[in-house]
Amino acid sequence: MTRLAASFLLTLLAVLSVTVIGSRDISGDVIRLPSEASRFFRSGAANDDEDAVGTRWAVLIAGSNGYWNYRHQADVCHAYQLLIKGGLKEENIVVFMYDDIASNEENPRPGIVINSPHGSDVYKGVPKDYTGEDVTVKNFLAAILGNKTAITGGSGKVVDSGPNDHIFIYYTDHGGPGVLGMPTSPYLYADDLIDVLKKKHASGTYKSLVFYLEACESGSIFEGLLPDGLNIYATTASNAEESSWGTYCPGEIPGPPPEYETCLGDLYSVAWMEDSDIHNLRTETLHQQYELVKKRTANDNSGMGSHVMRYGDIGLGKENLFLYIGTDPANDNYTFVGENSLRPSSKAINQRDADLVHFWDKYRKAPEGSTRKIDAQKQFVEAMSHRMHLDHSIKLVGKLLFGIDKGPEILNTVRDAGKPLVDDWDCLKSLVRTFEMHCGSLSQYGMKHMRSIANICNAGIRKDIMAEASAQACVSVPSGPWSSLHKGFSA
Ligand SMILES: *[C@@H]1O[C@H](CO)[C@@H](O)[C@H](O)[C@H]1NC(C)=O
Ligand SMILES: *[C@@H]1O[C@H](CO)[C@@H](O)[C@H](O)[C@H]1NC(C)=O
Repeated sequence: MTRLAASFLLTLLAVLSVTVIGSRDISGDVIRLPSEASRFFRSGAANDDEDAVGTRWAVLIAGSNGYWNYRHQADVCHAYQLLIKGGLKEENIVVFMYDDIASNEENPRPGIVINSPHGSDVYKGVPKDYTGEDVTVKNFLAAILGNKTAITGGSGKVVDSGPNDHIFIYYTDHGGPGVLGMPTSPYLYADDLIDVLKKKHASGTYKSLVFYLEACESGSIFEGLLPDGLNIYATTASNAEESSWGTYCPGEIPGPPPEYETCLGDLYSVAWMEDSDIHNLRTETLHQQYELVKKRTANDNSGMGSHVMRYGDIGLGKENLFLYIGTDPANDNYTFVGENSLRPSSKAINQRDADLVHFWDKYRKAPEGSTRKIDAQKQFVEAMSHRMHLDHSIKLVGKLLFGIDKGPEILNTVRDAGKPLVDDWDCLKSLVRTFEMHCGSLSQYGMKHMRSIANICNAGIRKDIMAEASAQACVSVPSGPWSSLHKGFSA
């Protein structure tokens, strides 16, 4: 054996022993491999591209479940296919989805998920890292931090990134001011997400990070909260005080194939993905994509669209998408040229009404007198009465706390741009919990009232006073699937 080969072997052994310790996680902390060694093991051989950008990591998460929320998981599956075509490796993409769509009894094409009217299957091959009850806030945040010991269930895959790496996070779901949904409880609050992003930055384990976020009031997750200097570039589907929109919904043109009684995608989400699908992303910048997505998501200012926003280190916008999501070699000749083929849709459905659209479409199409028709009607009525109960209760709480005139005014106050939703997040969480103890779970729809509860905190109301008002407003917690005390508390 030559001296050179012997020294190579020794180095390899040294690297291997570090790897073994690293993966065992003896101390409970994540032990970081020297970045050269970890790249060696991750990608086999060094490669020029890889050297320039480090490793590309991604976290994809659909925060909902239920067939009426088909579109969120369809978005995530589509994103996964896009990243794989772009050259990311499965081991570097962490996927969170409840996984109740492909095999749902309502799905007209069993085992298949589509994200556009003529789209092909996007479900096949998507890894089931975190599904069902493992789609939790705790696992999501631990995956971002690369902290395997904090993970419960699932594949254990986390973002085990190093200082030269680029990270892409894409979240699609319902939301409300300061909060993002989860198929499990509790929900994800903006302050906890921002804390984790700060922690990730402090750990020195990425070069820069792009966050694409689709949810109602998604601007409120970053507004006044995400500081500059973390090397994070975020865009959101909507500003801090408006809905985001579903698309390819029943009744729209283009709409889903007739056998689908649900929306297939979300407006902002399909805008960035359909743009990325067809371009050489070495030549398209984040900024160019932002402009395009903003235009499509505004939907001709028809009132059925939202304002795409940017937060954090906006200067990163001059970088190419390639750094984060790679590029499909088949698009090498499709250079980005400003105005492109993205067509506006004729209509869109408010995120919050997409469940009603599903129940209504189901009802409309079911044969007269069938069990299906009766079921759909029941689902529609239950959803509506849950909404009315929540709207009414929160209004009443406001009036009890601040008086008939002042109540609605205080609840509806929107703070100036650049200010966070609430000063004391612990107060918000504790008052949400107090309200839910007496009035039932806010659930998906009720997240819209988060601003009212934040304003109650901002007005200095304490927990015991909130409890008294909530008890008076809600004499009994209504039963039914949407009131769901059994679903757990959202804070
Ligand atoms: C990882 O998570 C565990 C369990 O929650 C925690 O005790 C530990 O401090 C975390 N490690 C790091 C590096 O944050
Ligand atoms: C791009 O164009 C060049 C020159 O015409 C051609 O040789 C190449 O095959 C094309 N690449 C793709 C992916 O279509």
